[in-house]
Amino acid sequence: MSINNTDEYYMRCALELSANGAECSPNPRVGCVITRGGSIIGKGWHKKCGGPHAEVEAVRDAGGDIEGADVYVTLEPCSHYGKTPPCADMLVSLRPGRVISSISDPNPKVAGQGFEKLRNAGIEVKTGVLEEECRWINRGFLRRMKEGRPWTMIKCAASLDGMVALKNGKSKWITGPEARTCVHELRAENDALLTGVGTVLADDPEMTVRYAAGRSPLRVVLDRTLRTPPKAAILKGGAVIFTLPSASSEKAAVLEDAGARIVRVSCDNFLGDVLKELCGMGVNYLMIEAGPSVTSSFISGGLCDELALFVAPKIMGNGRSFAGGAEFQEMEDIPRLKDVKYTKYGRDLLIRGLFECSPDL
Ligand SMILES: NC(=O)c1ccc[n+]([C@@H]2O[C@H](COP(=O)([O-])OP(=O)(O)OC[C@H]3O[C@@H](n4cnc5c(N)ncnc54)[C@H](OP(=O)(O)O)[C@@H]3O)[C@@H](O)[C@H]2O)c1
Repeated sequence: MSINNTDEYYMRCALELSANGAECSPNPRVGCVITRGGSIIGKGWHKKCGGPHAEVEAVRDAGGDIEGADVYVTLEPCSHYGKTPPCADMLVSLRPGRVISSISDPNPKVAGQGFEKLRNAGIEVKTGVLEEECRWINRGFLRRMKEGRPWTMIKCAASLDGMVALKNGKSKWITGPEARTCVHELRAENDALLTGVGTVLADDPEMTVRYAAGRSPLRVVLDRTLRTPPKAAILKGGAVIFTLPSASSEKAAVLEDAGARIVRVSCDNFLGDVLKELCGMGVNYLMIEAGPSVTSSFISGGLCDELALFVAPKIMGNGRSFAGGAEFQEMEDIPRLKDVKYTKYGRDLLIRGLFECSPDL
């Protein structure tokens, strides 16, 4: 194997380890592999926020002696004191021969300074190995750091004619059990699930992870006038309700008693401010499971990165289309998807792709 192939091979191992850190938000998912003489001597990944970083885990796994070894890490080693001391300093003191990394950390507290510390200490640093894959696995962290909003995925279940509910609001069940299990798996991959008060009133959803392994994400409701019923299932176990500054304080107090956290944001840039607040709550990944009104607002506002549309082989006729509230005058203005994948779940089809308007990572 050439050195480039070797570097890619070990970086891929580190990348696979990083995927274990699905619950480490708001921190990035990072994996680390340490090699010496062609063998892996240490492995680690960042398990949860506040816990040891991937480099520390891998050094421990290697027994502490990594002098002259190669350290493969999917993100630039940190250079600042956060909840743990700087990994770059630790590496400098342990004298590895090379540090091979993929991408620099966009966190302004790091932003190249981790690499600089290593280079200044005479350690060889190579960057850019499997860059695209490492960006993808940290798309939520990168989106939050660079755009000030989480990575947003719209999830809908629709009929062949694009309907998510009948005209009278009924929508249970459009897709089959296999697709619904997949939805719970998708939920578990996200930090927060967002819906609109229209869905809360129509369906009274719990929005928890029940048919898959993993924790239930933070639940979020957009409700500008506090119409959410205090007995709504989504409030059991707590939820955040975003509302306007003008919403009734009496209703807010009742909902707070029922388990809600009320957050008031400006009317002028409601969705933008909601996303900013969610970033402040450490949300890297947000799944939108709402009705046509909220879904359309996200699409019209160009605020979505990914679509997961489950299509059932059914026809619902004159119902409510999943993006029926969005309107375009020219064909060149309509949102398009790229990198589209098609997967069958029972009799249903999942169409999953990225919005072309989604900014580069
Ligand atoms: N098949 C599916 O995948 C699926 C998923 C979810 C829901 N549904 C169906 O969708 C139907 C409900 O649709 P819906 O459109 O009423 O529900 P929705 O989009 O979940 O909620 C709409 C409400 O959200 C509030 N809202 C807050 N901020 C908003 C914003 N920026 N843009 C738009 N709305 C905002 C508005 O009420 P305020 O102005 O009072 O804040 C609005 O009336 C139900 O029949 C439900 O079964 C289907």
